[in-house]
Amino acid sequence: MALSLSAVSLALFILTAPVSLSTGSNKCVARNFGHGSVVCECNSTYCDSIGKEALPPLGQYSSYLSSMAGSRLEPGQGPVQVNSSGAGLRLTIVPYQKYQKIRGFGGAMTDAAAMNILSLSPGTQDQLLRQYFSSEGIGYSVVRVPMASCDFSTRLYTYDDTAADYALDNFTLAPEDINMKIPLLQRAQAMSPQPLSLLASAWSAPAWMKTNGALIGKGSLKGQPGGKEHKTWAQYYIRFLEEYAKYNLTFWAVTTGNEPSAGHITNYSFQALGFTPEEQRDWVALDLGPALQASSFPHTHILLLDDNRLLLPHWAKVVLSDVHAGRYIHGVAVHWYMDSFVPAEISLGTTHHIYPEYYLFGAEACAGWSPIDRGVKLGSWDRAEQYAHDIIEDLNHYVVGWTDWNLALDQTGGPNWVKNFVDSPVIVDTKHDIFYKQPTFYSMAHFSKFLWEGSQRVGVSASQKTDLEFSAFVRPDGSVVLIILNRSSSVIQFDVWDPMVGYIPSTAPPHSLLTLAWNTH
Ligand SMILES: *[C@@H]1O[C@H](CO)[C@@H](O)[C@H](O)[C@H]1NC(C)=O
Ligand SMILES: *[C@@H]1O[C@H](CO)[C@@H](O)[C@H](O)[C@H]1NC(C)=O
Ligand SMILES: *[C@@H]1O[C@H](CO)[C@@H](O)[C@H](O)[C@H]1NC(C)=O
Ligand SMILES: *[C@@H]1O[C@H](CO)[C@@H](O)[C@H](O)[C@H]1NC(C)=O
Ligand SMILES: *[C@@H]1O[C@H](CO)[C@@H](O)[C@H](O)[C@H]1NC(C)=O
Ligand SMILES: *[C@@H]1O[C@H](CO)[C@@H](O)[C@H](O)[C@H]1NC(C)=O
Repeated sequence: MALSLSAVSLALFILTAPVSLSTGSNKCVARNFGHGSVVCECNSTYCDSIGKEALPPLGQYSSYLSSMAGSRLEPGQGPVQVNSSGAGLRLTIVPYQKYQKIRGFGGAMTDAAAMNILSLSPGTQDQLLRQYFSSEGIGYSVVRVPMASCDFSTRLYTYDDTAADYALDNFTLAPEDINMKIPLLQRAQAMSPQPLSLLASAWSAPAWMKTNGALIGKGSLKGQPGGKEHKTWAQYYIRFLEEYAKYNLTFWAVTTGNEPSAGHITNYSFQALGFTPEEQRDWVALDLGPALQASSFPHTHILLLDDNRLLLPHWAKVVLSDVHAGRYIHGVAVHWYMDSFVPAEISLGTTHHIYPEYYLFGAEACAGWSPIDRGVKLGSWDRAEQYAHDIIEDLNHYVVGWTDWNLALDQTGGPNWVKNFVDSPVIVDTKHDIFYKQPTFYSMAHFSKFLWEGSQRVGVSASQKTDLEFSAFVRPDGSVVLIILNRSSSVIQFDVWDPMVGYIPSTAPPHSLLTLAWNTH
């Protein structure tokens, strides 16, 4: 009885809710800034959305298309055919070839992201959060949370800047956590249909624990793994988890620290903490692993590396070939910078084949980071292709999730205290109380909205050589999702063949990203 009453009140709430909460589809309000394609403009009362995903009945397929020409998750539907359309290329789904299961997709709640979101009116803030986290949004389920400051902060701080406080008596969260990140994470969690998978990464230890006595530059923890500083740094993680738990925010995973290789670069310009793979191995084995096991959070995963994937497989070999470290670790977190320098088959593929029991997870990526292509570019389709290309390549090499960097930036690509400005899928214009959804937002959506947690990658075989890039999945309910990226200039139609249901005649227009989905029973 109580149940049906609350169902009635929920139904009433939905019926009386504002229009922008409805599940109907809203078209993109396109703005062209001359960078190849368009952005979609959103305000407190309007934002484009395809609503909740609903699959057509067996015998029909649905399609969603985004393209340089301006389509944004444009929905389509059609009948699955008995016969081939006669196209030269056929992509065959091979459901019995099973690979990794998806964890999720998401972005990072940096200080900068939180400031940008909160710079909008409350209504526009809600609209922005809904775009990512609600069931009408694009299904983000992962949020990476920096532990204390990073370059995307407006000041340098850690949670305990009191010198020699080895007992961490003065450990305290920052105003950035308490007034900005935590309230936003709670709002995101409240509108998400599933529990968010929170991932914590630290950029630097407090200066007093470090060889260089500073948060930036070249430096690592004083002493040796098992020593005073290394133990205190592990306890700092536990204190962080305890403080966030007071706000009902519990973490799925922590990493061993953001980009440990940066802390070995002389005069590195922002927060970093150097670890060699050997030091990371021993710190996990002697300090972080035992501390987490003995804490109130023994099920929190530990992800090693949290740095560029070209450091694989070497880094993973050093850490995971040690049983003392390996028993505490669950996965390997990778960043996308300089991905093109080492083939994914060598970095990711080899790591997976040597250590199949540890998952690979994409923890950070952003566009506009390279010195030759810097900062925000409103409407860049090239950057949407960079995202989709990397996500497909990662997924086809055993990666279980992919996390974008800042959830939102301002029009200069900040704030960032060291002016390391980059791009984001959401750019806010505080003055006009609006935000722009970049082409990269839709690149994320083509995966994040459709590949629910537990979706399993399956085989796809192409009947002939093709420049199309693709990846296929069977979702927990048995439906199939195929994502196809066309960056090429070859002109071909193609058929998708799922032996379970039949043929799906298809076209990937120039410079496009296509998600196809269909039921199999
Ligand atoms: C929001 O955008 C919609 C669509 O462009 C427009 O009709 C509406 O007036 C805007 N609302 C506000 C508050 O600016
Ligand atoms: C499929 O192809 C077969 C053989 O080519 C033909 O006999 C049949 O009529 C076709 N069916 C449909 C629905 O087009
Ligand atoms: C550290 O904590 C102690 C006791 O709570 C307090 O008296 C002291 O002012 C704090 N120091 C700093 C630098 O915050
Ligand atoms: C945490 O959640 C519990 C139960 O859902 C609730 O009673 C409590 O008020 C929440 N605490 C905070 C700090 O939000
Ligand atoms: C690092 O900074 C110091 C002090 O500013 C400077 O003297 C030195 O040349 C720098 N080293 C490098 C490698 O840039
Ligand atoms: C891919 O895009 C090119 C143009 O870049 C277009 O000519 C071709 O038809 C597309 N490929 C497919 C398979 O549709």
